[in-house]
Amino acid sequence: MRLSDREVYAIDDICSHGAVSLSEGDVVGCELECWMHGSRFNLRTGVPSCPPATTRVPVYAVRLVGDTVYVTATPTPCRGASRMTVLEIRDLQVSVATEEGAKEILRGVDLTVRSGETHAIMGPNGSGKSTLAYSVAGHPKYLVTGGSVTLDGQDVLAMSVDERARAGLFLAMQYPVEVPGVTVSNFLRTAKSAIDGQAPKLRTWVKDVRAAMDALKMDPTFAERNVNEGFSGGEKKRHEVLQLELLRPKIALLDETDSGLDVDALRVVSEGVNRAKAANDMGILLITHYTRILRYIEPDYVHVFVDGRIVQQGGPELADELEANGYDRYLAQA
Ligand code: FES
Repeated sequence: MRLSDREVYAIDDICSHGAVSLSEGDVVGCELECWMHGSRFNLRTGVPSCPPATTRVPVYAVRLVGDTVYVTATPTPCRGASRMTVLEIRDLQVSVATEEGAKEILRGVDLTVRSGETHAIMGPNGSGKSTLAYSVAGHPKYLVTGGSVTLDGQDVLAMSVDERARAGLFLAMQYPVEVPGVTVSNFLRTAKSAIDGQAPKLRTWVKDVRAAMDALKMDPTFAERNVNEGFSGGEKKRHEVLQLELLRPKIALLDETDSGLDVDALRVVSEGVNRAKAANDMGILLITHYTRILRYIEPDYVHVFVDGRIVQQGGPELADELEANGYDRYLAQA
């Protein structure tokens, strides 16, 4: 399947639900739809996203050299198959308390994020994108008035914030808070121990922290500074991604991780996110106002978010359209 110059995928032709040729189906975003009963298969992983198919279709690694496409003879093993995680948000409605009383922000959000998938939520400022991330993470300021959020079938909304973190959710904040008196190294090890239920082995942990900091181009002295105290905007975002790499969540919510970063920092931070995703088959919900970060973190799906709900969805091409035309068309319809 060739979706664009850079995007070529190889997937078995036969649906895992029946003897039906998938190449006769339609491509929707980064998925191939079986024309018989409508199951869709992720072109990267071969994993079905909706019934009736429940089994993965084999996919093959592809390499492009000029116009020539090379495909491996053996299928790619599915790293995440045994621990596929699904975050399901259904008809989520959320209010926030204001001086004028409760104000409805989210007005029925439906979204599913699976392991290995990257979903970009794009929208104008004030559309409720961050509210979505904070509500899923459990910020007490946001009151869920309707709908559901589940992680592998477990009711996320019934969990405390720390239970959500232990279940595999992670929020990279737009404005990370300062924690005076707590060093980065202390914070990271305490968080890792709390999430895993046991302290990491010191020798490997120190090595892992060093390697992750090195990859994020962070000075080693950073580990002994107090969390976010006096950090520059770029340092704060690197610290968020450092946590992401070390804590290894199943699903990461990235709230405007690109804001306030220059091009070099954006690249370093994005590479960190991509490493964390590759190492852990992590699912990503990437909230952003701008398309710039999507050059480094490629989305499988793009959702346009306006006035507290998703008003349009598509593949990466939707981000290109937003880059060219902005949000005006969607704002006019809201
Ligand atoms: S044959 Fe493909 S979904 Fe049933």
